[in-house]
Amino acid sequence: MNNLDSHYKPSNFSDKVALYFTKFLRFLADTFFKKRYGHRAVVLETVAAVPGMVAGMLIHLKSLRKMEDDKGWIKTLLDEAENERMHLMTFIHVAKPTFIERIVIMIAQFIFIITYAIIYLVSQRTAHRIVGYFEEEAVRSYTEYLQELETGKIKDQPAPEVAINYWNLPLHATLKDVVKVIRDDEAGHRDVNHSFANVIDERKTKETNNTKDKQITTKENLGGNN
Ligand SMILES: [Fe+2]
Ligand SMILES: [Fe+2]
Repeated sequence: MNNLDSHYKPSNFSDKVALYFTKFLRFLADTFFKKRYGHRAVVLETVAAVPGMVAGMLIHLKSLRKMEDDKGWIKTLLDEAENERMHLMTFIHVAKPTFIERIVIMIAQFIFIITYAIIYLVSQRTAHRIVGYFEEEAVRSYTEYLQELETGKIKDQPAPEVAINYWNLPLHATLKDVVKVIRDDEAGHRDVNHSFANVIDERKTKETNNTKDKQITTKENLGGNN
């Protein structure tokens, strides 16, 4: 079971950029959707399914170019994209996007694919950290949605069939059950992306240490020759 409230404390400038970028987008989403959680889920899941596919594609191409093993990252990222797409396929049965939302989705997809690809190419660790923070916000939003359903402020309804089949839910499952499993998925993506950012950091630290060791050895060897 994931720790739902888990938060990665920013440890450097790149983390802070990722966090404030996420907070800014959260502010936009809160302003646009307010408490229309079904609509919020439809629009945001169309965006959420992008990073895994973009990152998976870029690592795939890098693996081909450099003839290097991907350590299983491509499959993990493509699975994330597929899982996020299933969130969308589920919520489309709960809330139908309005005309304005469809326009927002098209513009957002166009901008986000390009922006995320550029961020990924410039700083892979920042890109994963951003998704980690996006997912922290997703967990928070689904918790709020669940509270509205539990208190009856939003009427519960039978779970869509697509969700029952995808998550193997009981036939009498409701929207509350669906929101719970989706929230668990989001927590899983959060942990994976934060850990990917950490792994990239560790690799860089190792590389720097190896270079320093090599420089010291070279200096020692040169010193010995004098
Ligand atoms: Fe999602
Ligand atoms: Fe997500």
